[in-house]
Amino acid sequence: MVLNEEKRIIYVNPAWEQLCRVSFASIRELPFHDFALRNPHLESLVEKTMETGASHHEMDYSYRTPDGGDVPVFITTSLIAGIAGTTAGLALTFQDISYFKEIETNTKQAHRLHLLGKLAATMAHEIKNPLGGIRGSAQLLDMETRDQDQKVLLQAIIKEVDRINRIVETALDLKRSRELRTSPVNIHKTLNEILLLEKRNEKSSGINFKVEFDPSIPHIPADEAQLTQLFLNLIRNGVEAMDGEGEMAISTRVSSEYQVQQDAQKPPSRMLLVEVRDKGKGIPPEVRENLFTPFFTTKKAGSGLGLIVCQQVAEKHKGWIKLGQNPEGGTSVKVWLPLK
Ligand SMILES: Nc1ncnc2c1ncn2[C@@H]1O[C@H](COP(=O)(O)OP(=O)(O)OP(=O)(O)O)[C@@H](O)[C@H]1O
Ligand SMILES: [Mg+2]
Repeated sequence: MVLNEEKRIIYVNPAWEQLCRVSFASIRELPFHDFALRNPHLESLVEKTMETGASHHEMDYSYRTPDGGDVPVFITTSLIAGIAGTTAGLALTFQDISYFKEIETNTKQAHRLHLLGKLAATMAHEIKNPLGGIRGSAQLLDMETRDQDQKVLLQAIIKEVDRINRIVETALDLKRSRELRTSPVNIHKTLNEILLLEKRNEKSSGINFKVEFDPSIPHIPADEAQLTQLFLNLIRNGVEAMDGEGEMAISTRVSSEYQVQQDAQKPPSRMLLVEVRDKGKGIPPEVRENLFTPFFTTKKAGSGLGLIVCQQVAEKHKGWIKLGQNPEGGTSVKVWLPLK
């Protein structure tokens, strides 16, 4: 972006327009002050540069776009010298650092997973053995007693023990990270089977599932059982966020944004994008930060491992997942998987 000596915007390049989601036509000749209303810190950078003549950097700035989004950028300001020591204007360079940010987040997540794995492995046996004892004793007592109230309580013990057991098993599975058993998978068939099961589930009986499948999508190389786990977890999260009522959309298409290079000898492969959109309560910022923290849950009976499993399955397939806002309210979860 270039400003003239009156601090009016006289040029931005197309890359800037795309990054900041503003067209040049809409800000041409605009005083920088008016442009920077949503980003007051930028104005102080420009002021400092004009006053001192020195360049300034902002390594990690969150640029607020007109549609209310945030783009992480690296900003540099520098004076443009005119003739005979005058100032002709000022240049601002914006560098998109979202890629680095994502790597940083992924590394943190990988680290958390590693810690979880270690913890799970050491604790699993310690937990599972006594659990077996508790369950067995509760079962014995249940067989011996005729008192209905006691039976209800004993059944509750058994049910809760089974729940803890499942949590420990999931955590252990993450550590063991099951190998992929890859075969050509018809993603639409897999998704339809999950939906068929879900429709029979009492908790989702009030949900209207809408599918938008792109019929041209070929079979993808994947582990069907693990993909089922992934999408079932996402769909359940959506159902839970909507308290079992409303519309949920599941769509597939070929992604135009990304390609992955799996092998230097072959051309990069295109990605399949599966999106699960719910109209639930959405994800508040304090929850968003912890989505992939092991055992983090806002639910009474949640284990807080669902999304981590999803992420791990996606990554094993050389894909990834991303949670965001559904423009129609609620949450949108996107899963990218290689088509080849
Ligand atoms: N679609 C969604 N809408 C709103 N919040 C969500 C959604 N998906 C996940 N979350 C939030 O993220 C948290 C973590 O989700 P995750 O699936 O990992 O665990 P969980 O659903 O709480 O437990 P589990 O999946 O083991 O039953 C949830 O407790 C919830 O607060
Ligand atoms: Mg879940």
